[in-house]
Formats: sequence, C-alpha cells, structure tokens
Amino acid sequence: MIQFKNLCTTPLEEIVRVFNLAFSDYFVPIKTSEEALQRKFLVEKVRLDVSVGAFENDQLVGFVLHFGTIVNGEKILYNGGTGVIPSHRGQNLTCRMITHCLPLIKTEGFSKIKLEVFAINSFALKAYQKMGFKEIRLLNCFKGKLLEGQKRNESVRVAKMETIDWTVLKLFWDLEPTWQNAEHTLVSLGEKIDFYGALLKEELVGYVVFNPMERRIHQLAVAPKYRKQGVASGLLQDIAEKEKELVSFINIDTRIEIEGVLEEFGLENFAQQLEMELLLTD
Ligand SMILES: CC(C)(COP(=O)(O)OP(=O)(O)OC[C@H]1O[C@@H](n2cnc3c(N)ncnc32)[C@H](O)[C@@H]1OP(=O)(O)O)[C@@H](O)C(=O)NCCC(=O)NCCS
Repeated sequence: MIQFKNLCTTPLEEIVRVFNLAFSDYFVPIKTSEEALQRKFLVEKVRLDVSVGAFENDQLVGFVLHFGTIVNGEKILYNGGTGVIPSHRGQNLTCRMITHCLPLIKTEGFSKIKLEVFAINSFALKAYQKMGFKEIRLLNCFKGKLLEGQKRNESVRVAKMETIDWTVLKLFWDLEPTWQNAEHTLVSLGEKIDFYGALLKEELVGYVVFNPMERRIHQLAVAPKYRKQGVASGLLQDIAEKEKELVSFINIDTRIEIEGVLEEFGLENFAQQLEMELLLTD
C-alpha cells in the first residue's frame, strides 16, 4: 500500500537517490548530489513540511518538492521537482501526492503553485492538467559555448555592479522572469552571482546576471530606448571572455525578443518549457 507524508524526516540521501532514479530516463540528463540539492533547498527556500513523498513499505518511490516565497505580500509556492520512479508510474501518484499536501498548503495561506514543465513531457503535463494546473506561458531554453568577437557597441563599457537597485533594473524588463531567475531567487543567491552593468557615457543602459558556479545566465536586459544598439552583445562578450565552457540561459518568455542575440553568440534553443499555475483561492 502507498502512504503519503511530508518530507521533513526523510534523509536527504534518500531524496537524492529517488530523485536520480526518477530522472534517470529524462529528456535531458539530470543527476543531482546531496550537496547540490542542499544548495537548491537553501537558495530557493524549500518547504519540506508542504513537500510530499509517496512511500511503499516505508521506501520512497515518488516526491513533490515545494519551495515557498512571498512576492508583493502574496505567498507563492513553487513545485521545483516532481518524480516517480519508473516502476511506479501510471498510478496517479503525482496527483495523489499533490492532493495529500493541498489542505496544509491552503491553510498556510499560499495563493498559487507555480511550476515549469518541458512542453514535450506529456506524462508530467497530463498529471498537472489532471490536478487543474493551467498553462500560463511558453518559455525558451538556451545553451552553448559563448562565441567571442561578435559585433558589439564599442562605446559600451561593461563593469561589475557593486550595488543593485532592483527598482532601476526592473525598468529594463518587458515581462517578469520565471521563478529561478526571479528577484527573490537572485537575492537569495547573494554573492554566488555577479551583476555586470553596461554603461554608455556612465549611464546604466543594460545588465546581465551570471552565476559562475552553475555557469548560468539568470537575466539579461537592456533599457528599451537603447535596444538594437549592440548593448546586449557587449554584455555577452564580457561573459564570453570570462566563461569558456557551456553556459545555459533557461526559461525565457518566448515573447521576449532575445533569441537573435543569443543565437548570434552561439547559444542554441534546445527546449521549450511551459509555465503552469494552480490557483488556490476559490
Ligand atoms: C512525470 C511523472 C512525475 C508522472 O508521474 P505519475 O505519477 O506516473 O503520473 P500519472 O500516473 O498521473 O500519469 C500521467 C500520465 O502519464 C502517462 N503514463 C505514466 N506512466 C505511464 C506508463 N508507465 N505507461 C504509459 N503511460 C504512462 C499516462 O498517459 C498518464 O495519463 P493518464 O492517467 O491520463 O492516462 C513521472 O512520469 C516521472 O517521474 N517522470 C520523470 C521525471 C519528470 O518528468 N518529472 C516532471 C518534471 S516537471
């Protein structure tokens, strides 16, 4: 018989083992370690009390990992990992796990659960749709080695930013970033990430946020009136000089006009994800 309970007392080692088994046949190779998962738990603020495991004979066979934050006074939960080991799929375990923790999630005052899912992951999509998750937007995922020496605006000077004023940076946005690139995640990453500003006659006209440990770009934005002037190219050139290995830049709203410059710098659009949401307020 399958039992459901929160993950507060499940050893991290066990979660990692089952995570890796559940993702062993995934579209893109995903293998985590205790250290990496612990880091994710800390940065993205895991809520093990409202995360859930499916147990058979006390053995973990499936999990839903929830992370929580408050944005503009609204309590939001993020599903940052769902997995069922191959031998236990097709038993509606995903819905049963989420259903198990929903009453507590509602009592805790969360207004919605957000997640991202690969558009081609039909198993997961079906499970989330059955639960009532709705598609919010389509996202592009890029990766590749950044090419150096692309055309750029030579008047732009790129410099590391020491102080971050989010009210200014947000003026450069067209749309809200997704969870892992959002302000609250970047604030929590703290000194693990670097902000580089593009300066034109000492005015900040764009910026990029780079995570050297994960080799990941989190944000790239240029002030509307300085677009199409080689500013983003200046910022990407700067990262290209610092990082020679494969980098990723994922979950970018497809409505943002960014594909051109990323492809020019050698990044490939390798997948599309769907951002989904389950509203909890009746
Ligand atoms: C996605 C995943 C969590 C779904 O878990 P699950 O509890 O088995 O899901 P369900 O039992 O609700 O099945 C969902 C759909 O997948 C399909 N499916 C699942 N297992 C299947 C199997 N063994 N054979 C055929 N179809 C299967 C069915 O179409 C089912 O839809 P239906 O119930 O309307 O027929 C699981 O497949 C998994 O761990 N995959 C790898 C990790 C992953 O993709 N995580 C999600 C990241 S967003």
